[in-house]
Amino acid sequence: MFVDAATNAARPTAQIKLHGPEAFAGMRAAGRLAAECLDMLVPETKDGVTTERLDTLAREFVMDRGALPACVFYKGYRHTVCTSLNHVVCHGIPGPRVLRDGDILNIDVTVIVDGWHGDTSRMYAVGDVKKRDMRLMDVTYAAMMKGIEAIRPGATLGDVGAAIQKHAEADRFSIVRDFCGHGLGQVFHDPPNILHYGRPGEGVALRPGMIFTVEPMVNAGGTSVKVLNDGWTAVTKDKQPSAQFEHAVGVTETGVEIFTASPKGLHQPHQTPG
Ligand code: MF3
Ligand code: CO
Ligand code: CO
Repeated sequence: MFVDAATNAARPTAQIKLHGPEAFAGMRAAGRLAAECLDMLVPETKDGVTTERLDTLAREFVMDRGALPACVFYKGYRHTVCTSLNHVVCHGIPGPRVLRDGDILNIDVTVIVDGWHGDTSRMYAVGDVKKRDMRLMDVTYAAMMKGIEAIRPGATLGDVGAAIQKHAEADRFSIVRDFCGHGLGQVFHDPPNILHYGRPGEGVALRPGMIFTVEPMVNAGGTSVKVLNDGWTAVTKDKQPSAQFEHAVGVTETGVEIFTASPKGLHQPHQTPG
């Protein structure tokens, strides 16, 4: 989600919904289906396949299970998934591009199940990927998980952002500032904005019932990003690769629940052979 710096600071805490058990049940079902869709795509994401083929497979998977692809018709978007290759940071549009050995690809899917949104993304490695790019993906995954581990009642969004930023920058990678995570539920992009950088102790205090995404984008080079003329595709200005992972989570009485965990344990498909 694009961050509008002018309105970000003005969003009051009162706008952040505190969800109950029915919402958590709904998010569990939606998150699971989204994660199953990404699991299904693991063996399909290989040399010779087009990104629009992956989109078709995702759409059929979601529709066959009686769910809706949330991105179709969302602000004029036409596809089920975003496919962000190499130096594409996010919102890459599926198309005729054929995957090749050495590519790194983020696939981001959002489904609607009984009105609830499941939103998740992972990195996929195509064949043999450069060591530096493997490390970028590993660090991005670990940074997301550090952020999620910081979530509990009383912690702040600054604690979450700081944990992510610290982990990524320790490896001399950079955090993208122009896109952020978001509240999620029956609304796709709801308050609060979840920044993937920050200072411990700052920002909104977390409370049980808050539901949002954590979806850091980490660049191998500099943090600068631009959006192409198609109005969607965000790329790094220096053309260095970028990686992203995304989970949807809820704050519980004692900590955090991840709604989009992989049922097959394929959280890091970039590490699986093939
Ligand atoms: N799934 C993306 C997110 O994490 C949103 C994609 S919007 C689309 O927020 F229209 F590009 F699909
Ligand atoms: Co999201
Ligand atoms: Co997403």
